Amino acid sequence: MSQRTLVLLKPDAVRRGLVGEILGRIERKAGWTIGALELRTLDRATLEQHYAEHVGRPFYEPLVEFMASGPAVALVVEGERVIEGVRALAGPTDPIAAAPGSIRGDFGTIVRENLVHASDSEESAEREITIFFPGLA
Ligand code: TYD
Ligand code: MG
Repeated sequence: MSQRTLVLLKPDAVRRGLVGEILGRIERKAGWTIGALELRTLDRATLEQHYAEHVGRPFYEPLVEFMASGPAVALVVEGERVIEGVRALAGPTDPIAAAPGSIRGDFGTIVRENLVHASDSEESAEREITIFFPGLA
């Protein structure tokens, strides 16, 4: 089942020089391809749309501030079961609970600064791709 998903390498990943490492893990998966990719400092309006489901949660404001704190890499990945697959590569939200071998498990410690976003369903993927790459909608 070929799918597409929206992935963000968050500002901590860019600041720490982990873009190549993380992209490499995604790119090496058999048959997956990068359909779009851009380095971009995310503005508040974009982040409010992207994280609309989390409005009102205690972590929301610091999350938006962090996500706007420097350049991020936004990309669309296409291929077999990429939605589940990129989330498996990323590991669970809390990097301390994430197994070694996953991106968050290998490189993260702080929940907010967990390096990577990946869409969690086909519906989220289409919604998020429209936000970041309206030309691909
Ligand atoms: P969420 O959608 O629950 O996690 P995921 O990125 O794994 O889909 O949360 C979105 C982001 O919000 C998460 O990547 C990091 C941040 N966050 C916090 O800072 N504190 C928290 O307690 C939670 C649940 C998330
Ligand atoms: Mg999420």
